[in-house]
Amino acid sequence: MDRYLAASLALPIIYLLTVPNMIGAGGKGYVGSQACKPCHLSIYNRWKDTRMANVVQDPRSHPQAFLCDFSKPNPYYKFRKQDIAFVYGSHWKQRYFVKRGDNYYALPVQWDIVHRVWLKYHPGPGEDWWVPYYPDDPMKRPTGPLCDGCHSVNYDIATRTVTEWNVGCERCHGPGSEHIETPWKQGSIVNPAKLDFVRANDVCIQCHSQLRPLANPIHGSYYDWAVDYQPGDRLSDYVRLEDHQLGVNNFFYWPDGSAHKNREQGNDFVTSVMCAHGVTCFSCHDPHGSENDNLLIKPGSAMCLECHGPRSPNGPRGDTLEAHTHHPPGSPGSDCIACHMPRIATEIGTFRVHSHTFRFISPALTMKYGIPNPCTSCHKDKSNQWALEQLDKWQNESPWRFERRN
Ligand code: HEC
Ligand code: HEC
Ligand code: HEC
Ligand code: HEC
Ligand code: HEC
Ligand code: HEC
Ligand code: HEC
Ligand code: HEC
Repeated sequence: MDRYLAASLALPIIYLLTVPNMIGAGGKGYVGSQACKPCHLSIYNRWKDTRMANVVQDPRSHPQAFLCDFSKPNPYYKFRKQDIAFVYGSHWKQRYFVKRGDNYYALPVQWDIVHRVWLKYHPGPGEDWWVPYYPDDPMKRPTGPLCDGCHSVNYDIATRTVTEWNVGCERCHGPGSEHIETPWKQGSIVNPAKLDFVRANDVCIQCHSQLRPLANPIHGSYYDWAVDYQPGDRLSDYVRLEDHQLGVNNFFYWPDGSAHKNREQGNDFVTSVMCAHGVTCFSCHDPHGSENDNLLIKPGSAMCLECHGPRSPNGPRGDTLEAHTHHPPGSPGSDCIACHMPRIATEIGTFRVHSHTFRFISPALTMKYGIPNPCTSCHKDKSNQWALEQLDKWQNESPWRFERRN
């Protein structure tokens, strides 16, 4: 374990000489990810290249951060690079912040990275829950209450300052000042793997969900993130996840309660049998970095087969995988993710990300509620009725487990 070896050798001595300057800089015991680097070098080096470590970029130090094409038609809002204080996002979408006083504001335009087009960005009535509490003018919707708490460490709502931008180490491990002074002391820092599964998942769900603080309004403003929550706490003491009503189709949920938009992995996952059995977000994702897409520990379905398989007590039942999937091995229709994590959560424009309930969505639910099902999303030329008839022939699936009738 090279990281501990490094820690137990000379580094801490050199390190302690510099530590006193770092404590206090962030206030409240936060020291910043740089302070973790000397002793946890390999984790630090992997983490620093993750998207989470780079979602917010200052274009003055990172001019290459702009992924947009200024020559493409932009009828929504035109701006110049030099007006931008922060460039946000690099994966699916990019948004642009300007600074006025000590507040930031998101411009009413965004770049769709997947389709390479400009799109409007302006949450309106019926969209985000906070819309009625803010004026329509984008320059009157400060990002402090609406965004910044999820893209930084230790955002101070009074001073509007942060220890650092982006998802730094302490955002998942809590304030580190005690630990950097007494690293061998048990409990000097939070290790999510040592928390109960609810608190463990809360570390990720604090950001990967749609929620509202219980204390809203806080000093007169409506916040969209978990103010005051720290890793190790129970998130439900600070926020509630967005409510859902069966049969209602809205911005946040499909009528069956599946996530309808991005950043609801938490809302989805808490309803899963896996969550109740102690599986965590980091059973599948390595937050410190991975060679695989989406920080997966193993690529795609190989991740599922770590715990599942024909003879596994976790299912699926049957002697072979083919007996479960009814598609030839290795074909698209045999992919666990295709049937159990369909792309139904709108990220931007027409681009959608994966459901995290892991439930199979029956074609009967499509007929009843309009939520897409994996069968006819792939078999585009077939009807829902056809899909239901095929499923009826799959004798190994219990007809009582999921809806078969419209
Ligand atoms: C001076 C060296 C040093 C610094 C700086 C340091 N660590 Fe550690 N860290 C260690 C050592 C040594 C251990 C192993 C302690 C043990 O095994 O009980 C450790 C263990 C940990 C653990 C596991 C704790 C557990 O209970 O399982 C986490 C999480 C952690 N460090 C995070 C951090 C973070 C985040 C930072 C920056 C804020 C940081 N460390 C800074 C030396 C350091
Ligand atoms: C997005 C959340 C997140 C961020 C950011 C993060 N960690 Fe972790 N860290 C975790 C989780 C979750 C675990 C438990 C993983 C497990 O054991 O499965 C963990 C475990 C650890 C451990 C103990 C286990 C091990 O692998 O040695 C150390 C040490 C650690 N992190 C250090 C760091 C440092 C240093 C940084 C910043 C460079 C950092 N972490 C950033 C979530 C995070
Ligand atoms: C402080 C808020 C925050 C916390 C806490 C957090 N995330 Fe994230 N996460 C983000 C943001 C913001 C992005 C988008 C980064 C981007 O695309 O630029 C992201 C992206 C991701 C991605 C896709 C990234 C990729 O590289 O493809 C995964 C997977 C992920 N997070 C998992 C986790 C897990 C697991 C945890 C808990 C251990 C966690 N996150 C905790 C804010 C957070
Ligand atoms: C509750 C926490 C939270 C809040 C509030 C929040 N975000 Fe995020 N943001 C995330 C997470 C987590 C992700 C990554 C997962 C996703 O995109 O679904 C993300 C992703 C993004 C991305 C896309 C990154 C990429 O690479 O495609 C952009 C841009 C972004 N956020 C901007 C904003 C803006 C602007 C606001 C305020 C209007 C905001 N966010 C509010 C947590 C949050
Ligand atoms: C870390 C282990 C682990 C991994 C990885 C894992 N699962 Fe699971 N899964 C479980 C456990 C445990 C259960 C509960 C089994 C039981 O019924 O006792 C479960 C249950 C399920 C169920 C049944 C839910 C229900 O309603 O009965 C489905 C479907 C499922 N997993 C799909 C997946 C898919 C798809 C993947 C890959 C993306 C995956 N799992 C990865 C451990 C895991
Ligand atoms: C062609 C679609 C399809 C594919 C591919 C698929 N499943 Fe399923 N799966 C279903 C259906 C339908 C059910 C029954 C619905 C239910 O029980 O909730 C189901 C149920 C399950 C269950 C719970 C019931 C049981 O038999 O234990 C588990 C666990 C599961 N699948 C895991 C997996 C894993 C792991 C993979 C990848 C190897 C996979 N599935 C691939 C359609 C699929
Ligand atoms: C059982 C495994 C498993 C668990 C548990 C899990 N995920 Fe995922 N997640 C995946 C897989 C698989 C993908 C990517 C599917 C692909 O790319 O084909 C994914 C994708 C993502 C993405 C990228 C957006 C997308 O859907 O493409 C984010 C962000 C994410 N997960 C966050 C989380 C968070 C946060 C949690 C816990 C609340 C979580 N995941 C729990 C397996 C898991
Ligand atoms: C990701 C794509 C995908 C998904 C999801 C999927 N299939 Fe398929 N399916 C295929 C492909 C491709 C074939 C052709 C089989 C081959 O590879 O030879 C096929 C073949 C079939 C066949 C036999 C050939 C035919 O057309 O009659 C049936 C029946 C079938 N699928 C039913 C289903 C049902 C029911 C579901 C939902 C539970 C489903 N499929 C989900 C891709 C998919």
